[in-house]
Amino acid sequence: MIPDDTYTEARLTLSAADAGETDARLASLHADLVAPAGGTPWVWIEQPAPAPSPRAIVSPALCFWVPTRNDTAAWRDAVAEAVAAWSEAPDLRFTVGLRPPDADAWRHAHRPFRVGRVAIVPTGDRHPSRRPDDIALHLQPGGAFGTGRHATTRACLRALQRRLAPGQRVLDAGCGSGILAVAAARLGAGAVLGIDIEEVSVEVARDLALSHDVADRCTFRHEALGDHALPEAPFDGVLANIEDDVIRAQAPHLAALLAPGGWFVVSGCRSERRDELVATLAASGLIADRVDASFRWATCAGRLAPDGV
Ligand SMILES: C[S@@+](CC[C@H](N)C(=O)[O-])C[C@H]1O[C@@H](n2cnc3c(N)ncnc32)[C@H](O)[C@@H]1O
Repeated sequence: MIPDDTYTEARLTLSAADAGETDARLASLHADLVAPAGGTPWVWIEQPAPAPSPRAIVSPALCFWVPTRNDTAAWRDAVAEAVAAWSEAPDLRFTVGLRPPDADAWRHAHRPFRVGRVAIVPTGDRHPSRRPDDIALHLQPGGAFGTGRHATTRACLRALQRRLAPGQRVLDAGCGSGILAVAAARLGAGAVLGIDIEEVSVEVARDLALSHDVADRCTFRHEALGDHALPEAPFDGVLANIEDDVIRAQAPHLAALLAPGGWFVVSGCRSERRDELVATLAASGLIADRVDASFRWATCAGRLAPDGV
């Protein structure tokens, strides 16, 4: 007989591309299959430490735990079905008898961190280390709603702080948890529009704006970049942390959304494809003046050429 305190660990190895796209999916996975099975109050994303050689980087993995008494064949099938939609060959393993990380390890993995003036503080952290001019963003730890730890999000937060001027109108395309949109509003943007193809992201982003007192300056809509003309355009700045295939396809649309001389920050591009991305952006008049590479991801930032293409 299985002791009552035995846990089953579910572990899904993610490709680097999947790892940047997980926020909304994790929210659904947790709500539909982890919480109802009495599992951990979070889904743990194991990010490999950046290594000196890209070859040494091991894939990130998503893990969660449920009491083994609730680990049924039907539950495993439902988990497998949910993750099958994420990637073509999901590497999903179940191991009986592994306990969740203890609370100290959890706190250590989700301790507050800072990107420039933006301090990312896990919700519930009672001892945030703060500086007087910090902009604190309180995010749900555990990856379920975007923790801000991904290299592309951090790069966008850094670039945003370099580009944003007070009162500007900003578009956050692929807003996910709303972290960039809410950061922009807290940093002084006059109006921010966030759009996302995942409905749950839009809801989470609205909540984030509300809980950070910037709901009056943030609007979130469920729609895909390029699907419709955006009545809020032109924008002074556009953030788009979306996979680079989407960015490349939508480069002319991004350019059309920007006011003359407006700035852009795009991320989600694998480092080895950055030259291709820079060239595609330039063909639409989006001239990158800075490309940062971090943890195999490139982030391009620049301005719309004054005379367009
Ligand atoms: C890597 S996440 C970025 C989330 C957040 N902006 C950040 O920086 O942490 C990419 C987001 O883009 C959304 N997305 C993907 N394709 C999109 C499209 N064509 N139009 C709008 N959103 C899209 C995904 O649903 C996901 O929430």
